[in-house]
Amino acid sequence: MSGIQAGDAMMAYGNLTAADRPWIIAHRGASGDYPENTLPAFEAALACRAHGIELDTLPAADGTFMVIHDRTLGRILNITDAVNERTAEQLTQLDAGSWFDPRFRDARIPRLRDVLARFGRQWTINVEIKPAAYHPANAQVEEQLVALIDELALVESVVLSAFDHRSLHRIQAIDARCQLAALYVDLPSAAQMDAIKRQLPSLCAFHLNAARCAPAESLRQRVAWAGERPVLLWTVDDVTQMEHFVKQGISGVFTNYPQRMLATPRARN
Ligand code: G3P
Ligand code: CA
Repeated sequence: MSGIQAGDAMMAYGNLTAADRPWIIAHRGASGDYPENTLPAFEAALACRAHGIELDTLPAADGTFMVIHDRTLGRILNITDAVNERTAEQLTQLDAGSWFDPRFRDARIPRLRDVLARFGRQWTINVEIKPAAYHPANAQVEEQLVALIDELALVESVVLSAFDHRSLHRIQAIDARCQLAALYVDLPSAAQMDAIKRQLPSLCAFHLNAARCAPAESLRQRVAWAGERPVLLWTVDDVTQMEHFVKQGISGVFTNYPQRMLATPRARN
């Protein structure tokens, strides 16, 4: 068997090259079939041999980083409180699965520490720092995340990403060994990509919005401007669409359905 294995994928994230076999990264875990950002979703992604997982993090009221996407608990729990109004202990008591399917009523909002400790030795884990993490009450978000990754000795397997690129700069200043990925909603210009590559040597990938990448020429340009840095797209759930993107030179996709995407002969095996 050739290519990168799920078990050694973490070592190569910063060295991804354009390939006809993209990396398949499970977006919020296998979140098309399991409740997002929960252990069942991550376990399912591992079981189908996805190359990595993406997850979202926000701090609880006591500063503990939790794995959750939304600023408030409304969508998954019908509770109006914000994540940072409950302690980690309180958050981990909540049912984070029934909204998706009553079968998952035992699923919980995990602590980031626990997910990293459980999966970080086997996998690349892309931790997205959500915008709501930057709360005036906590100016130490980056320091705390870097300290956690360092304590768990996972600097080689964790990739930190954010739409707020100032945060990436702060992380690089704290520990230049951290692997960083720049997230964009709109397609970046050549000047923007050049600048961030120059200013952020720790940048190991560009994570672009698949919804903006349909025109082949636009995507090809971004792949060219990215140079040696791989370009990965979020979120791609359609195999034909993935194949179109692969032809333009991308290195991977974030998907809610890793099993489906891995079933294509174009996926790495
Ligand atoms: O990491 C890329 C993607 O996850 C960003 O969008 O809303 O799914 O976190 P969202
Ligand atoms: Ca995300």
